[in-house]
Amino acid sequence: MRPRAINSKTLSTGILTISSSSACYSARERLLTMNHDDHVALLKDGIAAPGGVWADFGAGSGAFTLALAELIGVQGSIYAVDRDPHALDEQARRLRQRFPALHVQHMAADFTQPLDLPPLDGIVMANALHFVRAKNPLLQRLRAYLKPGGRLLLVEYNVDTGNRWVPYPLSYSTWQEIAQHNGFAETRKLAARPSRFLGEIYSALSFNPAR
Ligand SMILES: C[S@@+](CC[C@H](N)C(=O)[O-])C[C@H]1O[C@@H](n2cnc3c(N)ncnc32)[C@H](O)[C@@H]1O
Repeated sequence: MRPRAINSKTLSTGILTISSSSACYSARERLLTMNHDDHVALLKDGIAAPGGVWADFGAGSGAFTLALAELIGVQGSIYAVDRDPHALDEQARRLRQRFPALHVQHMAADFTQPLDLPPLDGIVMANALHFVRAKNPLLQRLRAYLKPGGRLLLVEYNVDTGNRWVPYPLSYSTWQEIAQHNGFAETRKLAARPSRFLGEIYSALSFNPAR
């Protein structure tokens, strides 16, 4: 099924709180310990230059979408994908306030299903892969969305044992193996931040090999 695409300029401006669903418990907790500068610091070494077509998978209310917006600037464009339309509404409001000139397309969709996206220069996936048990089919799909040489920026908790809020996490060393298994290359850890929840959050960069 084709996902619902919503242009951020057409979304309502109603103020929404972060979802109280268990899905974003960890996002609420992180708001207590991390701020916009931390989000930018986790992504910045993974973005070589301003511009480009990017997607944020599991974008939620936009903590990392805002950081991505700051780093790629108005020359870039972002497809923000999440199955929670309320979180996307909140995100659209925040992006309009801080980056009114940036082109952002909001897609209320399940990212494990096929999405209608243009070839991407980069993907951010922050605190969302840990919701997916069967990671290989999704990672094959993500790689297919990327241009040759395109980038995947992963942000995750550095643990392999889950709980009810973070059901299927992956440590950096597990990510190195899974990324290689799914054809990603040059994986490296970029940065880390301490977290009261599950100890540490890391960011990692991987490439879709240039053929
Ligand atoms: C913990 S929140 C993270 C939000 C944001 N990336 C951040 O780090 O602040 C996880 C988000 O992933 C979304 N999500 C989880 N599984 C999804 C799926 N299969 N398709 C689309 N969105 C999904 C949830 O709706 C939620 O907004």
